[in-house]
Amino acid sequence: MWGLLTRMTFKVGMEKGSGLVRPVSATKLVGRYLAHQEGLPGLPVPALQQTCDRYLAVLEPIVETEKLNLTRELVTDFQKAGGVGERLQKSLEKRACGAENWLSDWWVQTAYLDYRLPVVIHSSPGVVLPRLEFSDKRGQLRHAAKMIAGVLDFKTLIDNETLPVEHLGRRPLCMNQYYQLLSSCRVPGLHRDSVVNHAKSSTPSTHITVAHNFQFFTLDVYNSDGTPLSVDHLHHQLEQICNSSPQTNKEPVGILTSQHRNVWGKVYLDLIKDQTNKESVQAIQRSIFTLCLDSMSPHASGEMYQSRAAQQMLHGGGSHLNSGNRWFDKTLQFILGEDGMCGLIYEHAPAEGPPIVALIDHVIEYTRKSDMAHSPTVPLPVPHRLCFNITPDIKRDIEQAKHDLNTMVQDLDLAVLVFKHFGKNIPKFFKMSPDAFIQIGLQLAYYRLYQKSCSTYESASLRMFRLGRTDTIRSASVDSSNFTKAFDDPGKKNTEKVALLERAIKAHRSYTDMAIQGQAIDRHLLGLKLQALEDQVSIPEIFTDPSYAVAMNFKISTSQVPAKSDCVMCFGPVVPDGYAVCYNPKDQHINLAVSSFNTCPETDTARMVQAVEKALLDMRTLLESTPKAKL
Ligand code: COA
Repeated sequence: MWGLLTRMTFKVGMEKGSGLVRPVSATKLVGRYLAHQEGLPGLPVPALQQTCDRYLAVLEPIVETEKLNLTRELVTDFQKAGGVGERLQKSLEKRACGAENWLSDWWVQTAYLDYRLPVVIHSSPGVVLPRLEFSDKRGQLRHAAKMIAGVLDFKTLIDNETLPVEHLGRRPLCMNQYYQLLSSCRVPGLHRDSVVNHAKSSTPSTHITVAHNFQFFTLDVYNSDGTPLSVDHLHHQLEQICNSSPQTNKEPVGILTSQHRNVWGKVYLDLIKDQTNKESVQAIQRSIFTLCLDSMSPHASGEMYQSRAAQQMLHGGGSHLNSGNRWFDKTLQFILGEDGMCGLIYEHAPAEGPPIVALIDHVIEYTRKSDMAHSPTVPLPVPHRLCFNITPDIKRDIEQAKHDLNTMVQDLDLAVLVFKHFGKNIPKFFKMSPDAFIQIGLQLAYYRLYQKSCSTYESASLRMFRLGRTDTIRSASVDSSNFTKAFDDPGKKNTEKVALLERAIKAHRSYTDMAIQGQAIDRHLLGLKLQALEDQVSIPEIFTDPSYAVAMNFKISTSQVPAKSDCVMCFGPVVPDGYAVCYNPKDQHINLAVSSFNTCPETDTARMVQAVEKALLDMRTLLESTPKAKL
């Protein structure tokens, strides 16, 4: 099966050099997606004892000895023959037998849809793209038209099932997430949200939504014969939208989507009681994606540019800037400022970063090659303004949402570091995994600031498995801790430090391999816990144990999102006293986005950024100046 699919993969792809980037195969390969998916293995359930042993090992560097000894007893009891662990494991294995993926529904539910904090900052990642060379409305709209055309070009690959299958090493990856990106939207609930996806409905969406000056419009992007509108025609339509919304004199209804989910869930029901409002909201939900045409962002130049851009992408800068120009529930929102600021924000429930950046890479390539050739004038439907009837209650809710969002914006301390000294090249030269090198650098930076290790999360892809999402690579290990403690110890020789660095890096790489093969501990432990809830047995003590709370309190939450383009993804910390670090390692440099909360007295993004930069540089110096490394 894989052999056949691989051959099919080679047939499709991108045709370059003819001015435009076009999908080679415009014909549908009906059934290819399903055939590929069915060939993927199911996610395994790791062995109980393996997870218990590994759980104790990951606690070692982050939990005090006394607490750990108590946890050891609890774990021993949990996994004893005939005990609760064994019973839950059997239930989980049974669940795995009857499901496409025993974890994916549970994961989407618990990690995203049951999560009640605002999606803004707390869940939805932003992506900063390289600055574009324009600083006026004209340039903005010309580029926006090309961007739309680029996304539609990618959509053709999805619709025709001709998207090249991705691989990790030689293993083909699950492509499902690509089918969840377009025409989908999160819908708030009173206690739990849901996601609607119109891509596969009998009447697939043919419009996008455009947000301009806090007003929303639907723009039909296909001609009546099913072909996409030309760049020229798209540009004309965007001009019409902007001409009919010259001022931000309307209520920024979109800002409601930035609220706490329970609050928004309640307001949502009020809002859609009105039929006009309901139709407007549904038009946004059904649309292929949203394009946000933003106004200029102040102070966005020089050294600060990337950080300002990251803030614009992640939250829009506050109610006085562009936050009202969003519908944060929408899965994909491309953002284009009048000053050339460019990027996107995506709602996380349907997908992880890698498919998003693959789409972005395609769009960037497309916009570089495409030109705005003049298209013959044809009558085009006028873009439709989405109207909202705002009652005094809804107006009050909007005011509250503005206030709450501005408080969140004030609280986020987000900075982008373009680490220019080296990229993947240096770790590779020293025969080390670049990802592990960066992760150990983060451990060293944190240790230097706090003189201890902390629970650290790195996303690992489970896409080798059908409907796979992520598991956790735990970057704080006994080996990373030995290295960070030794690094600034004048009593240690450099050769000793290099040996410890090598061990730490190997340990990280081996945890990574274990995680991507579905053998990490976090999703398994979550599965056992959720199984206990499902089987209505009391929650085992290992989950109420303080060590478990420490393990789940990720003071550093990280993700590598590599891209062909020179972009960087960013997101907020997952705990009040933590850091988030997202990075795109290029060959010669590394783009990193670091965030923390201003209200936390213990964290400081600028200090962390400095510490990361110094840690990476010091690690290189150590390797370069140690005789063994020179060989
Ligand atoms: N010597 C020399 N080169 C090495 C090496 C070594 N010891 N180890 C690795 N390399 C090379 C690799 O071959 C690779 O080469 P390439 O640049 O030509 O592709 C490169 O270094 C990168 O490898 P590495 O740094 O080890 O990372 P990775 O590409 O294997 O990625 C993860 C590791 C964890 C990021 C990846 O497996 C993953 O799961 N990604 C998904 C994360 C995700 O979903 N994030 C989204 C959250 S929203």
